Amino acid sequence: MAILVTGGAGYIGSHTCVELLNEGYEVVVLDNLSNSSEKSLERVKQITGKEVKFYKGDILDRDILKKILETEQIESCIHFAGLKAVGESVEKPWEYYNNNIAGTLSLTDEMRRHGCKNIIFSSSATVYGDPAMIPITEECPKGVCTNPYGWSKSMLEQILSDMQKADPEWNVILLRYFNPIGAHKSGLIGENPNGIPNNLMPYITQVAVGKLKELGVFGDDYDTPDGTGVRDYIHVVDLAKGHVKAIQKLKEDVGLGIYNLGTGTGYSVLDIVKNFEAANGVKIPYVIKPRRAGDIATCYSDAAKAKEELGWVAQYGIKDMCADSWNWQKNNPNGYEA
Ligand code: NAD
Ligand code: UFG
Repeated sequence: MAILVTGGAGYIGSHTCVELLNEGYEVVVLDNLSNSSEKSLERVKQITGKEVKFYKGDILDRDILKKILETEQIESCIHFAGLKAVGESVEKPWEYYNNNIAGTLSLTDEMRRHGCKNIIFSSSATVYGDPAMIPITEECPKGVCTNPYGWSKSMLEQILSDMQKADPEWNVILLRYFNPIGAHKSGLIGENPNGIPNNLMPYITQVAVGKLKELGVFGDDYDTPDGTGVRDYIHVVDLAKGHVKAIQKLKEDVGLGIYNLGTGTGYSVLDIVKNFEAANGVKIPYVIKPRRAGDIATCYSDAAKAKEELGWVAQYGIKDMCADSWNWQKNNPNGYEA
């Protein structure tokens, strides 16, 4: 039996493939490479010494879904495939809803037609909106999202929950990620954003490697200890291991499970800059800029439920996250391009 990993060539997907293969799972990847390179899967093989079966294709393409579900022995799906750039989603809402929502509908329809009703879905802390409580437990009500990307995650949570309610043969696990950073210790796989990065850590590493001049810190007047935004950064390898735990949990016929995947600790933007400089001995020049539209002051998790029910706890601290992000960037200044 195999695990279908949609979006498996991407940042979190490739790290999850490594952890699944290390645990002895067979892995089948479906990815249209719209935001990734097939080279990441070659590196996954290099790290693990194991094969990944790769289908280049789209989750909107029923024919390729049928082919995979008819050819491979798929027992569960980890569904990462999706578009994720917040700003772009405001410019191209139709493309985001079509790719993320229609894509998930075609995937889950073909899955149920082929008798495969186990899915783990990549959700996000963004579904909490401006959170009603800090730290954020899974009981925290979902909030108002500020962009179509966030709404696509919130709506897909609702769709998958309703499907599971109507047909209890489905096992659905919604994993709400906080802020994934870092890279595999080997430095062979990591985050590879297109163009100028939107997210903090890839921006910092590109400043460190000399591709960008300085970091812009978006606001220093938030109600936080140093005025800059506070987030729950989580090492991508810990996040990947959380997916292996969720796959194991599916065996218990969970019905619907919702879990935060975070460390439970918040760091400000300036904490990250300082930790990056200390871990790597590289100076990160920065300037204070106005607040970024849609940002909130503080977002960090209560990680107790994943510990109790999945037996999962994040192992890596901020030093490893900073050191491993830099190790990946300096060994691959142009990502997967030679
Ligand atoms: P990523 O862009 O690196 O990976 C997504 C992968 O999906 C890419 O390889 C892309 O080519 C593929 N893809 C996109 N649309 C597809 C389609 N229609 N058919 C087939 N493949 C398709 O992003 P990531 O950071 O690895 O994120 C993985 C998932 O986790 C996404 O769903 C994302 O929204 C979610 N998530 C990410 C973060 C984050 O900060 N990175 C936070 C919360 C949730
Ligand atoms: N920031 C800067 N300068 C930058 C980039 C970011 O100061 O150049 C600040 C932001 O204002 C924020 C913090 O760094 O305070 C983190 O910003 P990111 O863009 O790295 O991450 P976000 O918390 O805004 O959002 C990310 C993903 C979302 C996801 C969310 C929760 O981009 O898709 O984490 O998982 F929903």
